[in-house]
Order: sequence, then structure tokens, then C-alpha cells
Amino acid sequence: MKILGIETSCDDTGIAIVEFKGKTRPRFRNVQNQRFLRCRNVSFLKEMITFRILANVVASQIEVHKKYGGVYPNLAKREHIVNLPIVLKQALAGAGTVPANPAIDAISVTYGPGLSPCLWTGITFAKELAQKWQIPLIPVDHMEGHLLVGLFSQMPNVKHIFPAIVLLVSGGHTQLMLMKKIGHYQFLGETRDDAAGEAFDKTARILGLPYPGGPAVAAAAALAGKPAIAIKLPRPMIYTKDFDFSFSGLKTAVLYDYQKRTKKVRESKEYIRSMAKEIQQAIIDVLLKKTLKAAKLYNVKSIILGGGVSANKELRAQLTLKVTSEKLQVHVFLPLPNLATDNGIMPALAGYFTKPKNPQTIAADPNLRLE
Ligand code: KG4
Ligand code: ZN
Repeated sequence: MKILGIETSCDDTGIAIVEFKGKTRPRFRNVQNQRFLRCRNVSFLKEMITFRILANVVASQIEVHKKYGGVYPNLAKREHIVNLPIVLKQALAGAGTVPANPAIDAISVTYGPGLSPCLWTGITFAKELAQKWQIPLIPVDHMEGHLLVGLFSQMPNVKHIFPAIVLLVSGGHTQLMLMKKIGHYQFLGETRDDAAGEAFDKTARILGLPYPGGPAVAAAAALAGKPAIAIKLPRPMIYTKDFDFSFSGLKTAVLYDYQKRTKKVRESKEYIRSMAKEIQQAIIDVLLKKTLKAAKLYNVKSIILGGGVSANKELRAQLTLKVTSEKLQVHVFLPLPNLATDNGIMPALAGYFTKPKNPQTIAADPNLRLE
């Protein structure tokens, strides 16, 4: 079956077409074709699914939001309206499908969490398309999409995946969950204020680095080497007994440090790089401490990472290193870096595991939570 996934929850207009084949051989199978994202034994599903990305088109709005240093929902909505038909056309062309006779079996669309005007734009577009093509419409959770991209990006030779600890880190969310199987999630903790991605974005704005802040801070940090300027930021909530996070104090600490420096120092590349390295490390330290604590407590078989921040090289490397150095018998699932940020593959994957709904009852849910 072919699912067309539509993603418009924030500032990326993504449409992908993914082809799924179920119930084939019950063993791992290596597929040379680069366009196969995944082909594995999902024994926990009691079947093997093979899926192939037929098209994946993302229209980024970075250039539009860059001058404001952040996303303005109504501006983003306007861009989605312009981009959606273009992105659809490109996706269909990529999949060799013609709109008049779309060999698409279902459409899945992100209905939350995210920015309300942006979600509604995608939902309205998806409803019209489902009506036009007379095919089912599946409302899906954005965070589940991130999770599934994390889970399905590799082909590990492991028998057991669950229970798993899931760490989802994006521009709007920081969530730690215990996952028993696909569709079964237990919240362990989340951020009480800013998300990890937001801490990156806000720090970048203070330092005068471009939007989006995550990649800019990571690039500056990579150039720091042994930091020229010693900066020590707090590690908020690192030793608390719960699995919650708090990142807003970190951004304030960056601002205080920045303000106490002379103009010459704070505008120097030495300062910017040193601060970038320290904030990145502070975020990583807290994320990893709680993730590993949860992994040990629940004696899990794997750790699954997802969300835009999981593109961060240091976070990925340090998670893998820590799991090895602490001799944890867990497999670490990392999303392909280019699929960590928002895209249409996410809703397409989530759509495979979600039931269609009457389109008339589908509405945006900006605060949707995986349960
Ligand atoms: O998942 P995503 O594309 O959108 C939301 O659902 O929010 O995540 C975007 C976030 C932004 O905060 C961005 O700065 C961050 O992911 N990000 C990164 C990196 N790439 C993107 N943060 C740290 N390091 C990166 N390499
Ligand atoms: Zn996202």
C-alpha cells in the first residue's frame, strides 16, 4: 500500500510517499536500493514490513523566518498554503504517480502537536485531497512520526527492541517515554518550560547566530576546540529524582553571561564558540543523564532518539559512547540525520500504524500528547 504523508505542524511543508509491503519473509533482508529506508524484521509486529520511500519533498521556510529569528505562525501558514500544491506536485512526480489516477491508498496528515494555523492548513489540504481521490484519511501524531523515523532508520541485528526508552527532542518538545510497542507509550517526563531545541534557538539569537539555532550552535561548538574562554553553565534538574527537564534557566544563564562581557569579548568568535560548546554540552548532559537513568530503571532493550535536535552530532555520539562505557545492553536507535527534522515520511510512517478517521471529525490538536 502507498501512503502519502503531509506534514505542516511548524515551518516545514513536507510531503512524502511511502510504499509498504507487509507479511513477507520473517527475516532481516538487506536491500541495496538506496531508496529503501528500511527493510527489516519487525518481529514485534509479527510480520515483516518493507517500506520504500518513493518521494520525499520538504519546502523549508528558513529563509522566510530567518529575519525574525523565529517562526511566526500566520506567516508560516501563508507559506504552507503556497507550498503545499507545489510540494505535492513534486512528490507525485517523484513517485511516478499522476494526480488524475493516483495509485495512493491513503493520506495521513499531522494533526498535532504543533502550531494551530499550520496544522489546520495541512488538515484542510489533506481533507480536500482525500475527498478528491476518494481514499481514507489518517490523522497522525507528529511526535510518533519522529519516533518511528528514529526506530526505522537502521537495520540492527537485534532480536528484542521493547521495552524501549524514547527521547524526543525538537523545537517544541522534550519528552522521555517508556515504549512497550508501537502505539503504546508511557510518559516518564518532559520539559517544564522550554524545549531543548528552543534552548538552542534562543541561545543562537543571543549570540547573533542565524536561525534555526541548533545547527548554527552545533557548527560554532565544533570549531571551539579547547574553549578559549572558560564558561560554566548550570545543568538544570540534572539530579532531580523525576524525569522532567527545564531549559529556560539555561537560556537566562547564557544571557547573564553575555551581558556581563564587554562588547569586544561577546562579539569575538572565541566567546561565541566557547559559549556554543558549553550550552550544547549542558543540554546534552541533562538529556543523557535522565535517558540513561530511565534505561537502567526500566531495564530496557533499546533507546530510541527522535526529533530535530537528534540531528545533533555530539548528542548522537555521546549517547552511543555513554551506553557503551556504562556497559548497558541496549541498542541505540538514531534517525538518519537528514530525516531528524520535520518531513513527510514521519506522517507516512505513523499513518501505517494508525486507523483512518472520518475526515469530518479530524481537527487540529496543538497540544496533542502521545499516549
Ligand atoms: O523536529 P523539528 O524539525 O521541528 C519541531 O518539531 O520543532 O525540530 C527543530 C529543532 C529546532 O529547534 C532546531 O534548532 C533543532 O531542531 N535542531 C538542532 C539541530 N538541527 C536542528 N539542534 C541541535 N543540533 C542540530 N544539529
Ligand atoms: Zn518536529
